[in-house]
Amino acid sequence: MGSPAVIDLGRIPSLGVLPRRMLAAVVRQERYGEPEQAFALEEVAVPRPKDGQVLVLVMAAGINYNNVWAALGQPMDVIAARQRKGAPEDFHIGGSDASGIVWAVGRGVSEVQVGDPVVLSCCQFDPNAADVRAGADPISSSSARIWGYEANYGSFAQFTLVEPYQCLPKPPHLTWEEAAAYMLVGATAYRQLRGWPPHRVEAGDPVLIWGGAGGLGSMAIQLVKEFGGIPIAVVSSQDRADYCRRLGAQGVLDRNEFDHWGRLPSLDDATAFGSWLAGAQAFGRRFWEELGERRNPRIVFEHAGEATLPTSIYLCANDGMVVICAGTSGYAGDVDLRYLWMRQKRLQGSHFANPQQCAALNDLVCQGRIDPCLSRTEPLSQVGACHQWMHENRHPPGNMAVLVGAPRPGLTDLPPELGSLADARPTPRPTLEAALSQAQGGRA
Ligand SMILES: NC(=O)c1ccc[n+]([C@@H]2O[C@H](COP(=O)([O-])OP(=O)(O)OC[C@H]3O[C@@H](n4cnc5c(N)ncnc54)[C@H](OP(=O)(O)O)[C@@H]3O)[C@@H](O)[C@H]2O)c1
Repeated sequence: MGSPAVIDLGRIPSLGVLPRRMLAAVVRQERYGEPEQAFALEEVAVPRPKDGQVLVLVMAAGINYNNVWAALGQPMDVIAARQRKGAPEDFHIGGSDASGIVWAVGRGVSEVQVGDPVVLSCCQFDPNAADVRAGADPISSSSARIWGYEANYGSFAQFTLVEPYQCLPKPPHLTWEEAAAYMLVGATAYRQLRGWPPHRVEAGDPVLIWGGAGGLGSMAIQLVKEFGGIPIAVVSSQDRADYCRRLGAQGVLDRNEFDHWGRLPSLDDATAFGSWLAGAQAFGRRFWEELGERRNPRIVFEHAGEATLPTSIYLCANDGMVVICAGTSGYAGDVDLRYLWMRQKRLQGSHFANPQQCAALNDLVCQGRIDPCLSRTEPLSQVGACHQWMHENRHPPGNMAVLVGAPRPGLTDLPPELGSLADARPTPRPTLEAALSQAQGGRA
């Protein structure tokens, strides 16, 4: 008897058994647009791991802004981009964060074994790419791509296909949904704050954090505190301000009190520029009030982009750094070069993180020093709604997750009725061939 075509959401088959098909929240080109409509639950074939690859049963998946972009089809049509490189799939399975169980491994995989509880990081690269072999940081390699955004078969599905170096130990104290929530934003914030020497946050450094209650911001506040810096957050509401303070922000600014946002006015228009400068200066004075002294931020933690970059460049301390990983409000980030060169500031682009930075962040989470800031847990069917809330900036502070294989929230291991993973792990662990032959002839 063959394995059933598909298992129900929230059901966990016997360890290592591979169903032929799976449920996934899928985006298709004809549905590009508002995230609520772009995602639909569909049945697709379970991808089979090739040599060197790992198939993970997804227990929970984290929600990130990148799949707002994927759903919109902007600024990149991720399906067309993959097809141009020869990918056959006409669909996108997003999801760049997950917790789960290693379910099958291709030949040559020694880093993880079937049954290991893992969290997944989203940087994929070709270890044999010429630039990586020559010593490039993998996330800066021309071969680097983000799993669950640029690469298909992300975590909004019952199974996901990854590379071994993406698998990190799941913090045992966290539930599956907590464990799925932090890696993408946490590792991105870690690289922004620690990856660009000499501008690594150190004791006593004031750091301005845009969107302090957001995914990146909630991680940045904690990391700045962890390294002895002074986090000062920016938000747009009182409840988000309260949230940032609870997380450890020393001060919080409400951006609604100012209106100088957006592109710089023409420097030839003295009135318009004067009014912009007055806004930036007033924002700076509020920063000093929150800090309790007249010092500017040594690091400005940027991702809002067009709306805020001129202010970030203006306010950053002499010899400091504005480090930016996105342009949520727009990509035309104006820089008044006078502030940049005369005051010797640095504008640094940053994108996700390399495997070492992911591991360093994961260690901090495993030690309980960084909280995943899980705000809300939904079923997989609500993936579109979660991204819609995010798109409209109506999502709760912190990070959201959806349950996929986990039957209910609150579990840190298998549900008690199935025993524990440690007990369920067979010795020796099943090979891919055994799992595949079970999928042909066994039961799920
Ligand atoms: N390159 C990378 O590796 C990487 C990694 C992670 C995320 N990102 C990108 O970074 C961005 C933020 O991600 P996230 O997960 O932190 O999203 P998020 O949870 O939505 O948080 C972003 C926060 O930014 C603030 N914000 C929104 N519009 C703003 C504006 N016009 N001016 C100032 N602040 C604004 C909002 O806070 P308030 O309204 O309270 O101010 C919001 O909470 C997204 O574009 C995402 O794609 C990039």
